[in-house]
Amino acid sequence: MLDIQKIRADFPILSQTVNGKPLVYFDNGATSQKPQIVIDAIEKYYQEINANIHRGVHTLSQLATDAYEISRGKVQQHINAKFAHEVLFTPGTTHGINLVTNGFASILKPGDEVLVSALEHHSNIVPWQMLCEKTGAVLKVIPMNEDGELIMDAFDALLSEKTKVVTVNHISNALGIINPIKYIIEKAHAVGAAVLIDGAQAVPHLKPDVQELDCDFYVFSGHKMCGPTGTGILYGKEAWLNKLPPYQGGGEMIKEVTFEKTTYADLPHKFEAGTPNIAGGIVLGTAIDYLNNIGFDNIQKHEEELLEYATKRLLEIEGLRIYGTGKNKASVVSFNIDGIHPYDIGSIIDKLGIAVRTGHHCAQPIMNFFCIPGTIRASFSFYNTKEEIDLMVDAVKKAKTMLS
Ligand code: ALA
Repeated sequence: MLDIQKIRADFPILSQTVNGKPLVYFDNGATSQKPQIVIDAIEKYYQEINANIHRGVHTLSQLATDAYEISRGKVQQHINAKFAHEVLFTPGTTHGINLVTNGFASILKPGDEVLVSALEHHSNIVPWQMLCEKTGAVLKVIPMNEDGELIMDAFDALLSEKTKVVTVNHISNALGIINPIKYIIEKAHAVGAAVLIDGAQAVPHLKPDVQELDCDFYVFSGHKMCGPTGTGILYGKEAWLNKLPPYQGGGEMIKEVTFEKTTYADLPHKFEAGTPNIAGGIVLGTAIDYLNNIGFDNIQKHEEELLEYATKRLLEIEGLRIYGTGKNKASVVSFNIDGIHPYDIGSIIDKLGIAVRTGHHCAQPIMNFFCIPGTIRASFSFYNTKEEIDLMVDAVKKAKTMLS
């Protein structure tokens, strides 16, 4: 059992008041809060070892380089990548996806097919659309049902030898649905397609095993898993990363430069041009240690209880509909109340100290599917409590009364 009050004490922001009310932070899908150990590690980096990495012979540069590479190793272990050089530091999920789509521009041919799912965030739709426009490849969509689950028969039917890439999120940001990615990866591989998994919403809740999944790429952000903003990871299988061209040219990613020809550095540096977010990369390792100390089994157990409790309590409200009613779900509840715009509920409950996200959640195709402008999304973390859910339910009831 987690001692939630002890855990909450690790997060200074959680004891704040907002609009004169105790903060109830249920916008973890957008970004998680940061424990003091992460905040301190950022300060410690700048106070003690700030220097550029992979460049200097001087002591500080070596200390910073070592800390950065130790962090890469922690990520490697955490996701069970075969090699540390398969783990690329990025500024976030969006950058990782664009790095891959940029690389596929030299691989795809007109008529090739890219399958994306109906549940994607815009960041895992738009880069693939841009790639298809550039190459003449065709974008196809794995459809979803009314419960927000991908329809696997339709996915099977879409697969053919024309399919070159399949991309799907591990967990939907807008609905919280957990996708059957193991099945999707196996089936996609059977027709020779590469698979990219957008793990941005998964890594705060579970520990992905990229070798067990056998995905070709797995991307995520650090800031949703208690790490700093501007940090992210692109895992890619060695063979794919060797095959893809570099994304950005610049310092650090080269072996040799002349005006006639440049040769590129080995992995991972080939994809890490310029001075990276050194402090962020190092402190992402601190965040991962923090989460592993709490334990993902404990996190999952607590979050499942929160999800069940929130679902039950919210459904007490007449006229409230939950979107994403599939069986496999992370701790996210997306909902609306009949006849009331989600933005209005969000604004009123903010005045009562409750932070949720309202709108289309950068997933407009999902909103179009349900014919709604958006939803109110409460996304829970391991540091949230049932008492906070009660406060949200009371606030939503009050807002409903005011707006009806
Ligand atoms: N992708 C983030 C969210 O779902 C920002 O809110």
